[in-house]
Amino acid sequence: MEYIRLNNGVEMPKLGLGVFQMTDEQVAEAVPAALDAGYRLIDTASRYYNEKALGAALDKTSVPREELFITTKLWFKDHGYEQTKTALQVSLDNLGLDYLDLYLIHQPFGDYYGAWRAMEDLLDEGKIRAIGVSNFFPDRYLDLVVHNRVVPAVNQRETHPFNQQIDMHDLAAKHGTILQAWSPLAQGNPEVLNDPTLTAIAQAHGKTLPQVILRWLIQRDIPRRRQEHPRAAAAREHRGVRLPAHRRRDGGHRGTRPRPIEHGVHPPGPPNAGASTHPPVTREEAADDVVSCPQLGSLCI
Ligand SMILES: NC(=O)c1ccc[n+]([C@@H]2O[C@H](COP(=O)([O-])OP(=O)(O)OC[C@H]3O[C@@H](n4cnc5c(N)ncnc54)[C@H](OP(=O)(O)O)[C@@H]3O)[C@@H](O)[C@H]2O)c1
Repeated sequence: MEYIRLNNGVEMPKLGLGVFQMTDEQVAEAVPAALDAGYRLIDTASRYYNEKALGAALDKTSVPREELFITTKLWFKDHGYEQTKTALQVSLDNLGLDYLDLYLIHQPFGDYYGAWRAMEDLLDEGKIRAIGVSNFFPDRYLDLVVHNRVVPAVNQRETHPFNQQIDMHDLAAKHGTILQAWSPLAQGNPEVLNDPTLTAIAQAHGKTLPQVILRWLIQRDIPRRRQEHPRAAAAREHRGVRLPAHRRRDGGHRGTRPRPIEHGVHPPGPPNAGASTHPPVTREEAADDVVSCPQLGSLCI
């Protein structure tokens, strides 16, 4: 199993089993089979109504707890500070666990700021090893990054070859968040699973088409560094546009040594090396992005 390091240093498997729409019986069958096959990440949600079935399957496994990586998600009806703390405890009880590996805000509705602040505190208390979001588009994601203490470790979005989330992937990477794919096989959409280009790639490599898609997703976190063309740089400087620090030639370090990062918290000074493949930017630089990002129409000032 390949792992990826989240922005607080926690290692997360790159491949996992999702149990969306599974009945309790299907969970009881699929989870042990996946664990036997080497899977360690299991993704559920309170809204999937199968946390208890997952808990029962985990109770029977001989895989040590510290090897497992269990994700569940907070449903929007439980948003708000106190409700979130209660909802986490309900999920932990359902799962038969005393801590969770990853807790995600399922959807950005209602008082998800109150929810996030509770999740930050639960992270500090050790009830959760990492916190993140799901279904956050760039505007809501960036607003959350700018106005809170902890940067989401993960943003789980629908991502597959016909919905590549290139902008979200780049923005998330820049701020130290991993883009995690849901419905990586497009929920079995035949247009995707019979696509001629993907079929040709699969044939050329002697793999199945779903294997090709999963490998492509697994390899996507390779850090990409874009070199700015000199003419583009001259034109930008002529317009007086300032690049975010991590894209400037000096990396925005201004001679200061990078500092380690805890829980993906905004560093107080310049960007640091951090634990993720891309150094996170500071709160001020994130705010710069809100102003300059062309896709964030509603937030541009
Ligand atoms: N955060 C969110 O809002 C959100 C939303 C959706 C999903 N998720 C997460 O993402 C996980 C995966 O998403 P998903 O189940 O919606 O979609 P998916 O993994 O893209 O697709 C699952 C479907 O693909 C087909 N499939 C699987 N393996 C295949 C293969 N080797 N060859 C051909 N077809 C294959 C199966 O269809 P058949 O059943 O027809 O065989 C299966 O039902 C979920 O379990 C959940 O954990 C999260």
